[in-house]
Amino acid sequence: MGYQNIKQQRDLSLDHNETGRNAYPETGDFSMLFKPYRLGDLTLPNRLVMAPMTRSRADINGRPTELAATYYAQRAEAGLIVTEATQISREGQGYSLTPGIYTPGQRDGWRVVTDAVHAAGGRILLQLWHVGRISHPLLQENNRLPVAPSAVRAKGVRVYVVDGDGELRSVDCEEPRALETHEIPRIVDDFRRAAALAMSAGFDGVEIHGANGYLIDQFLRSTTNLRTDRYGGSPANRVRILTEIVDAVTAEVGARRTGVRLSPHVTLQDTADPEMIDTSLVAIEALASKNIAYVHFAEADWDDAPQVPIDYRESVRKRWPGSIIVAGRYTAARGARLIASGLADLVTFGRPFIANPDLPTRIAEALPLATADASTFFRGGEKGYIDYPRFGQHPEEG
Ligand SMILES: Cc1cc2nc3c(=O)[nH]c(=O)nc-3n(C[C@H](O)[C@H](O)[C@H](O)COP(=O)(O)O)c2cc1C
Repeated sequence: MGYQNIKQQRDLSLDHNETGRNAYPETGDFSMLFKPYRLGDLTLPNRLVMAPMTRSRADINGRPTELAATYYAQRAEAGLIVTEATQISREGQGYSLTPGIYTPGQRDGWRVVTDAVHAAGGRILLQLWHVGRISHPLLQENNRLPVAPSAVRAKGVRVYVVDGDGELRSVDCEEPRALETHEIPRIVDDFRRAAALAMSAGFDGVEIHGANGYLIDQFLRSTTNLRTDRYGGSPANRVRILTEIVDAVTAEVGARRTGVRLSPHVTLQDTADPEMIDTSLVAIEALASKNIAYVHFAEADWDDAPQVPIDYRESVRKRWPGSIIVAGRYTAARGARLIASGLADLVTFGRPFIANPDLPTRIAEALPLATADASTFFRGGEKGYIDYPRFGQHPEEG
């Protein structure tokens, strides 16, 4: 979600094709996208996943509002919904108005969401999030410094905080405090407790956010992890916190209801690292024996979508026994091709799902797609959130 920073730079220049995808009706044989799929313990009616997307509409206590229930339920046609990133602790928060999953009130707010999605026939996982250094003392208890693997500031990265007037404003990330070795089990346990609370809120499982330059990704990368203890140095050590979190979360949720998101090809949030591709393969090998439901690759950072080489995809397939989900400026045609090639099992759509609550129907019936208004991605209340109509429906019925 460093998307907020990018959004800020591009707000004025965005046109309605900001994703580079046209408002196609796409044509082709997409029947394989509509074959049911067994993902861990879940049976999905189609291969189309709704991407985790921060929408910054929780209340000031990190509780999702009823609008979130409407928003997600409107999109229940997705084979699977992954929620917006949700902080597992106060320390894990990096932006105002993102939801949490560490208080009873937050759990109760999420319960309304999961009930609405299930009533609409959908399936929904919660994305578990600790931002690490992508934060600011204004968001932290007693204005403490955010924590990270090492005291390395995210240069040029800004986060959003609500100021005294209730307005969102952006501030530079500060240099974080490096975590002591003895604190890491506490963070792992925060993930575990958040996962347990997510299940008590009625989620069908969880996705561990190991992508996009947040805490876990900061541990994985040699440029943000300068540690000399058992959590730093070699790739195997840098991967350790991820595997410990996976073990803790799966103990609560079950491996077959747990997924992991990674983004080895993007350099979002000042995380460029020449070792990351190799490290990601070490991570995949370490996760391979855990029997989790899937690994989810975030391949695009907004419009900057580096080509993922086929040999990388093949290396993953060789090492990974489970399901593979891909995300990042996919079209139905591109997704169908990759699934047909055997290198992915499910395809995720982000921005198209914002603007097209009935995206699966539109793809199946080759209907035109609406384009998302980026100015309401992270603000706007109902506008740009629950007012995109289904195809042929009057907006006010939305
Ligand atoms: C508004 C917005 C918010 C996002 N927030 C998150 C997030 O909370 N967690 C995450 O893993 N990725 C996040 N992403 C990335 C998306 O999950 C997805 O990978 C990305 O949008 C590329 O897919 P698309 O081209 O189909 O939109 C966000 C993207 C957008 C546009």
